[in-house]
Amino acid sequence: MESLDVLVEEARGAFASARNAADLEQVKARYLGKSGALTEQLKGLGKLPPEERPRAGSRINEAKASLELMVTQRRDALRSVELEARLREEALDVTLPGRGQGGGGLHPVTRTRLRVERLFRSLGFEVAAGPEIETDFYNFTALNTPEDHPARSMHDTFYLKDSAALLRTHTSPIQIRHMESHQPPFRIISPGRVYRVDSDATHSPMFHQLEGLWIDANVSFSDLKGVVAEFLRSFFERSDLKVRFRPSFFPFTEPSAEIDMSFGDGWLEIGGSGMVHPNVLRHVNVDPTRHQGFAFGMGLDRLTMLRYGVRDLRLFFENDLRFLEQFR
Ligand code: PHE
Repeated sequence: MESLDVLVEEARGAFASARNAADLEQVKARYLGKSGALTEQLKGLGKLPPEERPRAGSRINEAKASLELMVTQRRDALRSVELEARLREEALDVTLPGRGQGGGGLHPVTRTRLRVERLFRSLGFEVAAGPEIETDFYNFTALNTPEDHPARSMHDTFYLKDSAALLRTHTSPIQIRHMESHQPPFRIISPGRVYRVDSDATHSPMFHQLEGLWIDANVSFSDLKGVVAEFLRSFFERSDLKVRFRPSFFPFTEPSAEIDMSFGDGWLEIGGSGMVHPNVLRHVNVDPTRHQGFAFGMGLDRLTMLRYGVRDLRLFFENDLRFLEQFR
């Protein structure tokens, strides 16, 4: 039975060189499988003389046991090699600094809007909103803007194809919508997007306005001056800021005035304003002999540019993170 010892030694070498679990199974089949080398030996027992069978049988069984042990040991060895490799590969260095959350932030114009809303709420104003796609009626007619007014020309206004709708050119239609659906007194502001055919460093086809409206029994032009000046001084945190009202014209206010604020050595236009025209009040069934008040419209983007010292309006709408991240 010398060949049995040879077989065991040969098997030891074969198991040792199995590189992975699949290899190992193949080697195992070669020796211990149904027609494996050791199984063949067992089958050969019957051909031996009866007196030799017990000894030979037990030797074969010993060999089988040691082969089975080899399988288990090799399997364990392969598993721990594999585990080591995985541990090395998936190693976590818990001392590495984190990748960071890339925290978001509010757009500078949004920051301005929220700040403006807070300041006006503290003066007793509510915040109202309206649609950006408007009708000719709300954008112009109800605001006492006659058919032939230049603001209606194709040059300024985006008209929607095949429909009577347009993109609102100002936030003033919200005055009408609010007064239609509420009872006086009215005291609202309304920030929002507006659209005009215009584009350069200080004009964008989409920009933001802030509408204001205060109508009560006796709201006067001096209230307009007081509210606007108080707002601008709070917004820019400058008590020495000067505000100037320069005579102007808007169809929906009478008298009308441009609002200028002091800026360096000069003045900067920041919006339009005036006492709401009686025709506008009549349009919404408010009796102009019993109610009066003011309205104003300011550029929210302009306020933002001034507050943060931004020179080019287009930067606000290009979504370049290098610019936007500076306002986090
Ligand atoms: N809607 C005007 C504009 O866009 C501004 C304005 C609002 C003027 C309210 C007077 C009163 O130019």
